[in-house]
Amino acid sequence: MDKNPVFLQIETRFLCFLISFYDIIIFGDFMKKFQTENADQTIELGYKIGKQLHRGDVVLLTGDLSAGKTTLTKGIGKALEVQEVINSPTFTIVKTYRGKDCPLYHLDLYRLNGVGYDFDLEEYMETDGICVIEWAFQVEEILPKEYLMINMKRKDEFQREIEITGNGSRYETMVGELN
Ligand SMILES: Nc1ncnc2c1ncn2[C@@H]1O[C@H](COP(=O)(O)OP(=O)(O)O)[C@@H](O)[C@H]1O
Ligand SMILES: [Mg+2]
Repeated sequence: MDKNPVFLQIETRFLCFLISFYDIIIFGDFMKKFQTENADQTIELGYKIGKQLHRGDVVLLTGDLSAGKTTLTKGIGKALEVQEVINSPTFTIVKTYRGKDCPLYHLDLYRLNGVGYDFDLEEYMETDGICVIEWAFQVEEILPKEYLMINMKRKDEFQREIEITGNGSRYETMVGELN
């Protein structure tokens, strides 16, 4: 028995919807890869990211020593109009910088062992500023549900591969707008 053409049309439309929906899930903009050839390009990428950040946002940076995490943070600081020089906070765990609209909290958890310390990390993630955390996986237990994750890889002396993933719809949109 032949199908009613109207019914067939509805079926086809539904199929197209499913295909496009699938497309969004699989090829959505929630993850992007970038390659930089020198530190200035990484700062430039950090700047573009920083321009999209708002009060309360959390950025997690992963990657080996000298992958460029602090260098990228310099770009974020530039976008937030931080006047001080941003450098590695390795020996202090956290440094607070004054940005034009809100503070920038730059944390480096390289030397932190576990979560049993006096230092109140959550305080920085739930406040008035933008929180950038190097070596964040050290405190996996207390990370917020939504964040921008940036994974950096050192390919050679100057080349870096930078993978940016949005976790949560707001951050997914952010990644979608990055180019
Ligand atoms: N493409 C690049 N991106 C970032 N840093 C680079 C790049 N090429 C060379 N570098 C150098 O690599 C070093 C990265 O150091 P840093 O940003 O402190 O890394 P991390 O914070 O990951 O330990 C800096 O000396 C920087 O000048
Ligand atoms: Mg660093």
